[in-house]
Amino acid sequence: MNIDDIKLKLQKELEYSRYLHSLNVMEMAASLAEKYGVDVKKAELAGILHDCGKNFGGEKAREYAREIGYTPDEIELAQPRLLHGIIGEHIAKTEYNVDDEEVLSAIRWHTTGKAGMTDLEKIIYVADYIEPLRDFEGIEEMRKAAFQNLDECVVLCADSTIRFILKKGLLLHEKTIETRNHSLKILRNLR
Ligand SMILES: [Fe+2]
Ligand SMILES: [Fe+2]
Repeated sequence: MNIDDIKLKLQKELEYSRYLHSLNVMEMAASLAEKYGVDVKKAELAGILHDCGKNFGGEKAREYAREIGYTPDEIELAQPRLLHGIIGEHIAKTEYNVDDEEVLSAIRWHTTGKAGMTDLEKIIYVADYIEPLRDFEGIEEMRKAAFQNLDECVVLCADSTIRFILKKGLLLHEKTIETRNHSLKILRNLR
């Protein structure tokens, strides 16, 4: 499926605001890919499709996960929106014919991140945060960091997620902590 066909299909599937967000993430991911010497086409594909699983929440998400043979952890069961990455990976593969494992993995991990992400995974993780429609305190610092050092931006994104989760009284997924620590260790030359 070429990128134009993907856009047409996605526009039908997603709410308009989410579709616009996806277009923005695609463009932001492409700029970052260019900056860091990552395959721009892969960044665009992962960017446009990163939220293609977002229509599934609540019991629908838990059911979808079960159907594709994934066993959610306790936090994902309690906050099933966290499953939209793994669901999106499956939808990208089966409904948008994406077979590139790097792209699929970037879609899979865009919500929590994980330790040891590839540059493409980091790019989608941060592009999701800093695309032009986003507006919150500290966003300008994050946008600047994204084009200076990907790990610096990953840490700022994880920090922001953690602050949001504390404020909302939600469960904090350990992958978010791993994401933060991993990039912070890289910044401090601890690995
Ligand atoms: Fe998402
Ligand atoms: Fe998103």
